[in-house]
Amino acid sequence: MRRLAIYGGRPLQGELKVQGAKNAALPILAATLLTDEDCEIANCPDLTDVHAAIEILQSLGARVSYDGSTARISPSGIRHCEICEELTLKMRSSIMFLGPMLRRCSTASIGYPGGCALGERPINLHIQALKRLGVEIAEDEFGIRAKIQKFQPRILTLAFPSVGATENIMMFCAVSQGETLIYHPAREPEIVDLQNFLNAMGADIQGAGGDVIHIRGVAKLHGARYVVMPDRIAAATYACGVVACGGDILLKNAVAGHLPVFLDCLRNMGAEVIYEPDSIGIRMHGRPFAVGHIRTEPYPGFPTDIQPLMMAATLKARGTTAFTETIFENRLCHVNEFLKMGAEIETENCTAVVRGVSNLSGTTVHASDLRGGAALAIAALSACGRSDIEGLCYIERGYEKFVPSLRALGGDVEEV
Ligand code: EPZ
Repeated sequence: MRRLAIYGGRPLQGELKVQGAKNAALPILAATLLTDEDCEIANCPDLTDVHAAIEILQSLGARVSYDGSTARISPSGIRHCEICEELTLKMRSSIMFLGPMLRRCSTASIGYPGGCALGERPINLHIQALKRLGVEIAEDEFGIRAKIQKFQPRILTLAFPSVGATENIMMFCAVSQGETLIYHPAREPEIVDLQNFLNAMGADIQGAGGDVIHIRGVAKLHGARYVVMPDRIAAATYACGVVACGGDILLKNAVAGHLPVFLDCLRNMGAEVIYEPDSIGIRMHGRPFAVGHIRTEPYPGFPTDIQPLMMAATLKARGTTAFTETIFENRLCHVNEFLKMGAEIETENCTAVVRGVSNLSGTTVHASDLRGGAALAIAALSACGRSDIEGLCYIERGYEKFVPSLRALGGDVEEV
């Protein structure tokens, strides 16, 4: 298994252009199925999950070229809408192809996305919404077979503001008759980015980011050129790095407005946060203060994806920080790895209490998911001596050029 060797104990200094957002690029790539015309998606991050999404589009018959930044998709060659289980298992979020495939072919089949390290990852909210919208869905041990019986525009209320379910409904209803409303939708900035892309294709969707999304179906969508928003979680990752290690970094192509709660936390930890419209500067001198209690919530609350990263930044803080993970049932796997480095953490159910220590020691640790792996790298940068992080493949699912990025900020990191 490929791994990182990190020599910690130095402050971070330097500038970094933040990558395009993985969690915006993936639904936007799926949405290109909704037109026969060419689309050009710029600032598309060079990640294994993006490669998997492109592979899915190609397996359906689309022609896709990708130069590591811009993806050019010609969907006119799509002849079928089945995604085999092997491809579905490659990327859990392949479920977001279901809505656009249904709209394109009126039928669709997809293998079960399967669980992951974070938990079981059910798709009941996707299925319930599509059934309410007139889709017949059969499930068997191999996956899901769906067919549009008779589209019925609806007023939908999501029991939980699921990001993926919100995106599937938006894409399925963008090309339809009538008006569909989504109450209690996910409000993440990536949802707004998807709305903006769909509207650039000629859709008529309003309200993303708020409490109600209003979709006025249109007959057809045309091709579009679009620039994906910056990745707010990647920005938060490097910000947590400088809080953990000390130093002074500038994150270019980063939007402070996408991280309101998180940046307040950094200030409470003693960091100096300076931001311009498209950059965020973070300075940290001395040991950070602990932040009391962090409870993950749907946007605009504290993001679950930042929980492991913030925990890494509190391992050597002055005081105690409690983390309560409310979104995923198994998103504390990084705790055991932090303990190997000398952290003091007690867990009970979905809460971890971190008591800041004055030193961490480098050792060998194992990543089991994307953000947990990045959090181990942050802890290793703030530890004394060498750490080896097993499972670089998990990190590369979400971080473009992770090793060069950390080196650009002064981190002593290499792939071994
Ligand atoms: C998206 O996952 C992101 N992935 C995740 O980022 C992120 O952690 C998550 O949203 C929450 O913000 C992408 O956008 C590709 P959900 P998604 O549907 O859509 C439960 C990362 O690190 N749920 O909002 O799968 C589910 O089990 C990844 O970049 C149901 O119960 O998230 C979970 O507990 C990790 N039934 C909660 O809702 C459903 O039908 C949040 O899921 C769907 C979800």
